[in-house]
Amino acid sequence: MAQAGKSTESESSMESVLTENRHFPPPAAFAKQAHIGSIEKYEEMHKRSVEDSEGFWSEVADELHWFKKWDTVLEWNLPDAKWFVGGKTNICYNCIDRQIDDGLGDHTAIVWEGEPIQDQDGGHAGGEPEIRKLTYNDLKREVSRFANALKNLGVKKGDVVTIYMPMVPELAIAMLACARIGAPHSIIFGGFSASAIRDRVEDGKSNIVITADGGWRRGKAVPLKDNVDEALTLTDLVKTVVVLERCQNDINMVEGRDHWWEDITATASEHCEAEPMDAEDLLFILYTSGSTGKPKGIMHTTGGYMVYTYLTSKYTFDLHPENNDMYWCTADIGWITGHSYIVYGLLPNRVPTLMYEGAPDAPDKDRFWDIIERHKVTKFYTAPTAIRAFMKWGREHIDKHDLSSLNVLGTVGEPINPEAWMWYHEVIGNEKCPIVDTWWQTETGGHMLTPLPGATTTTPGSCTKPFFGIDAAVVNSEGEPVGENEGGILVIRKPWPSMLRGVYGNRERFIDTYWSKVEGYYTAGDGARKDEHGNFWIMGRIDDVIVVAGHNLGTMEVESALVSHDAVAEAAVVGFPHDIKGTGIAAFVTLVGGIEETDELKKQVRDHVAKELGPISKPDKLQFTPALPKTRSGKIMRRLLRDIAAGREISGDITTLEDKSIVEKLQQQAD
Ligand code: PRX
Repeated sequence: MAQAGKSTESESSMESVLTENRHFPPPAAFAKQAHIGSIEKYEEMHKRSVEDSEGFWSEVADELHWFKKWDTVLEWNLPDAKWFVGGKTNICYNCIDRQIDDGLGDHTAIVWEGEPIQDQDGGHAGGEPEIRKLTYNDLKREVSRFANALKNLGVKKGDVVTIYMPMVPELAIAMLACARIGAPHSIIFGGFSASAIRDRVEDGKSNIVITADGGWRRGKAVPLKDNVDEALTLTDLVKTVVVLERCQNDINMVEGRDHWWEDITATASEHCEAEPMDAEDLLFILYTSGSTGKPKGIMHTTGGYMVYTYLTSKYTFDLHPENNDMYWCTADIGWITGHSYIVYGLLPNRVPTLMYEGAPDAPDKDRFWDIIERHKVTKFYTAPTAIRAFMKWGREHIDKHDLSSLNVLGTVGEPINPEAWMWYHEVIGNEKCPIVDTWWQTETGGHMLTPLPGATTTTPGSCTKPFFGIDAAVVNSEGEPVGENEGGILVIRKPWPSMLRGVYGNRERFIDTYWSKVEGYYTAGDGARKDEHGNFWIMGRIDDVIVVAGHNLGTMEVESALVSHDAVAEAAVVGFPHDIKGTGIAAFVTLVGGIEETDELKKQVRDHVAKELGPISKPDKLQFTPALPKTRSGKIMRRLLRDIAAGREISGDITTLEDKSIVEKLQQQAD
């Protein structure tokens, strides 16, 4: 099926790029039943979607429910887009009621699995997992009840509701209840601590927080309510806290402020009409951290976000409710991936969405594969950082399970190294599942560059081509397209329905960050190149491009070369000040389990990069480390590694760092 081999090229151009000759066309049987079953169909539809974007998107929007149809599809005053102007809709109605209207009320909407596996004595090993299934009817009842409970607590249309919860069905219920009554939500990932809650509550001027006593993570209760209590000693904005009982860990309830979820819903009516919302009414704020400064509150509105996440879900994962699809995205709902591709884009597609509460290695390292086997998951969506961990843990955990139900594999969040891609393809996909490497951002709301599994020939490491309606290009700072395989700035040249509508309360930051680097275009902050097949390759954040002796090197390419060495599990590369070259390359490497760290191996790994990419890319320094410093969403914090490599004090905020001890170890070892 695939052409074998990979080669490198670094001679002629100023760039040193990893050339990939392995190509995987969609399996014929898959393409035959797919929504978009050939590259010709993709190209024809893509051309139309960009040339007549308004016609294209109004047809898609017509597939969903509107209380009142829009007057104008798009009003575009750069950088402000308004989509489906004058239209009235409700995304919660489209996630739930629309299915019930069509007679599907007793179909499964959400399948949830808790982390603890209970044995007969209530312990955490052996025995049965805790599973809940909610039909659209169940979901409507629970959402309506909670929506009424919120109203009874005084929440009104337009009020920002903060949600800080574990991955339990009530998290989806809470967000859908907010959408039902028109209260924008601001969800905070449960791994964040008190100061992050305080910052977001204050920035969003939110006076209500919905939380739980705790959430299960590797058999321990994460103290969510305690974190909220601590945050609320730092701000006096919040007047109401709703607490779901999940772990029965000890917590403190504050009289007059705190209410049990159970109590306020017990008395609430299960009938709540969905509020007709203006297409441009705020649906949610979601904070994203930049490499510098405070997190930005990214704003998404109702109509455009709904239409775009609906269509990307349908086509990227090739969803077919009639084929008993079971979809599982392993992200937390606290990230954009969970907002768009666990809840809002999925439910309108009528395919059950699976939520899992806990860690991939609880109680054992085969938990994900066990879930896939038991629930017969057909579409699986995860992140490269997880894939690299699975590789490191070894395939014996996978071989124990039957993964034959799978037919599409997705990845998101950072560039996937070709090595990890091939492993995903061979070991998880059994060489029969198309891989969709989806490039997008909190700001874009939905997939921007992605293969369509029945149409696109994939290549390890490339996120391939733009989705419908997306006019993407790689340009220089003047906005002119750069040549084939030349690195440049990734831009989007036309508006799309789910684009961010701003940074909450900070117009200047919105303009500066996204609209002032290349005139007239949206800049994502990522570097990219486009190859001879028209496929896009993300080279990492623009900040991560290093110029070594006058050569532009994407840190991603060097990392991929490092990971292609058999002994290497994961790698991060940064630049550091170098007397001769200007900038040198420092590599931080974790080894595959059981392999010994020796100087000889260091040399071998460095030589391997030189062989793969050319001597210019050979790391000047290489340090082994048991783990890399990562954010709680699994992104490598290269900013910290830059400080360590340069022998500087760590600067800037490290509150998003998952494990601080790693940084201390690295500093001690640094040469
Ligand atoms: O640098 C890109 C990287 O993640 C950034 C967006 O991060 P965030 O807003 O947290 O959203 C993550 C989930 C959508 C991008 O600017 N990124 C995301 N997906 C990919 C990626 N880089 C390469 N390939 C991807 N598939």
